[in-house]
Parts: sequence; C-alpha cells; structure tokens
Amino acid sequence: MQDTNASSPGANYSLKEEIRAYWSSRAASFDQQVGHAIKSEAELAAFQSLLRQAFGTESRDVLDLACGTGEITRALLSLGHKVTAIDFSDDMLARARAKHGDKARILSGDAERLLDDDESYDALVTRHLVWTLTDPEAAFAEWFRVLKPGGRLLVIDGDWINRSWIQNLINRGATWLRERSGGTVHTTDKEAFDSITRRFFFRGGLSYERLGAMLHEAGFARIEPADYRQVVRAQQRSAALHDALRLVSSTRFALVATKA
Ligand SMILES: C[S@@+](CC[C@H](N)C(=O)[O-])C[C@H]1O[C@@H](n2cnc3c(N)ncnc32)[C@H](O)[C@@H]1O
Repeated sequence: MQDTNASSPGANYSLKEEIRAYWSSRAASFDQQVGHAIKSEAELAAFQSLLRQAFGTESRDVLDLACGTGEITRALLSLGHKVTAIDFSDDMLARARAKHGDKARILSGDAERLLDDDESYDALVTRHLVWTLTDPEAAFAEWFRVLKPGGRLLVIDGDWINRSWIQNLINRGATWLRERSGGTVHTTDKEAFDSITRRFFFRGGLSYERLGAMLHEAGFARIEPADYRQVVRAQQRSAALHDALRLVSSTRFALVATKA
C-alpha cells in the first residue's frame, strides 16, 4: 500500500522535488503530445497485444509505476487487470483519477521507495520512467521485492538523449514540417528540463542493453525484448506527418524481465 511518502527526505530529495515540479508543470498538456494519450482503437489494440505478450491473458494484480495521466492504466483496465497506479505528481494523479475514478487504485508514491509488502504484485509496468530515475539500483531492488515469484516487469522506455545521424535528420525534418503546417508547439520549460536531465542517473542515455544488465544485477532471471514497434506504428497512423516522424526520431524499446 502506498501513501504520500513521496515528499519524505532522502538522498536525492531536492532533485526529486525538481523532477516532480517539472512533470507537474507538464501535466495539463501531457496527453496532447504525440505518443502519450492512446488516440485510436488500433493503438489500444497494439498496447493490449504488448501487455498480453508480457503478462499473458489472465487477469493479474498489476502495479503501474509512474502512471502519469493514466494511459497505461487505461490499457491494463481494458484487459481486466486489477490495477494499482502510483505517481509522485499530484497534477498527474488528478488527471488519472478523473479518467478512471475508482476503477483503479490511484495513489501518490515514489517509484524508487515502495511501501508495498514483499511479493504483492503479479506484474509491474512502467513507461518513460526509467530514464528519469535518480537511483535506479534502489528502484530495481524495490520492484524485484514487490513482485511475486514468476512475476514480470514490463519496461517501455527509450533513449531521449542521443540520436543517430539519421534520427537527427528525421527530427529536423519533423520540426521543418511542423513549422510549415502550423502544428502545435508544446512549450516545455527547457531550462528546468536541462537542469534535471543533467543530474539523471541515465544522463548519458538509456539503452536496452544497459537496462537489461542492471535488471539482471537486481536479480531478474530472464530479460527479453517485447515488440513496441506495433504500438509506434499504430500511433503513427493517427498522427500528423511531423508527429509520425518525431515518433521514430528517438530509439524506443520495451523489455520484459521475469522474477524466477
Ligand atoms: C514521462 S511521464 C510518463 C507518464 C506515464 N507513465 C506515461 O507513459 O504516460 C513520467 C512520469 O513519471 C513520474 N515520476 C518520475 N519519477 C517518479 C518517481 N520517483 N516516483 C513516482 N513517479 C515518478 C512523473 O511524475 C511523471 O508522471
């Protein structure tokens, strides 16, 4: 069970406060940005397929770590899972609660310091959290602890720091197209973003290989890729051209780790 411990003092207290403030400032417009809210039946079906690949077809007790506005929770609920969702931003949580009411247990909590008992969940899922962690070793140990034996962790994430030359080209093309078409520019606090990302553990970028190695260190037995491209393809189909390009201008991946 989580509570509002997210503000308890700790080693990375001030950085965490800045990270929390940054995401809170983005809560209102978060769902409008490409790749965030589930925009079509095809995208929901792609998420369902990914979640079935990761967790099987039975209903499970699942923890959505850093649920944000509750979009992964939405996909989990659509498959009949029993969902607990945590985040440390009240602004994000308010949006998740407005969407799902009491269909999911939506709680304030720190994904690096869970208050749940050992072996509480059949499965854990987290999208776009790992790259922002301040203490991933502590987080992964916690996630391992609260999973039941045989339980699975699905991580959906990417490298939002490094781009290959081709990804750079695509990104520049996406910006050019957006400017020509008058597409919405989602302004974010770049100074705050740069200030926090400089201090993330994965400030040099997150990769599937590095994450897999760290999860293995944390005790996870089997680390396997999952097919996130199906989701990206579905997102592209309902996006404007510049957003469809933006979706492939960074490396995105999904990984499933199993607790033996
Ligand atoms: C990029 S958003 C992703 C939200 C959601 N998972 C999604 O994919 O739509 C990152 C989220 O992580 C949350 N977050 C970051 N660090 C956290 C932590 N240590 N504990 C709980 N939430 C955290 C932020 O408040 C924010 O809602």
